Amino acid sequence: MKLLFINGVNLNMTGIREKGVYGVQTLDEINAEIAAHFKDDECEFYQSNSEGDICSKLHSAECDGIILNAGAFTHYSYAIRDAIAAISVPVIEVHMSNVHAREEFRHTSVISAVCKGVVAGFGKNSYILAGESFKL
Ligand code: DQA
Repeated sequence: MKLLFINGVNLNMTGIREKGVYGVQTLDEINAEIAAHFKDDECEFYQSNSEGDICSKLHSAECDGIILNAGAFTHYSYAIRDAIAAISVPVIEVHMSNVHAREEFRHTSVISAVCKGVVAGFGKNSYILAGESFKL
């Protein structure tokens, strides 16, 4: 199975910013653990702070499933929502933190409705749980 893990804005700062919320591991370290977990699958990892680049990555995706942590774009990017709706590859929305237990603006997702499902609140394991769901 080919899985594409996309991380959006500020996720490159994981391990540096708000360690109490997102943990102390860097995104590279987390991605290495994800790759080890899915050792029998083909994993691609992509991160961008640019909304347009994430849309382009979604448009060109050739894989069985996409695991997307759009970061704050989740809460307001109609462009990313439309990009997800434009493709046939299923996308799962992921958050490391439990966004529903945080500030009110994080309770809104403009992408959930066009995603196959949502996983939030399990730290780095949110990515693994989302990836595993493609195998059910
Ligand atoms: C996040 C939650 C978002 O609200 C936030 O803007 C992020 C990370 C998460 O993984 O918990 O950047 O998507």
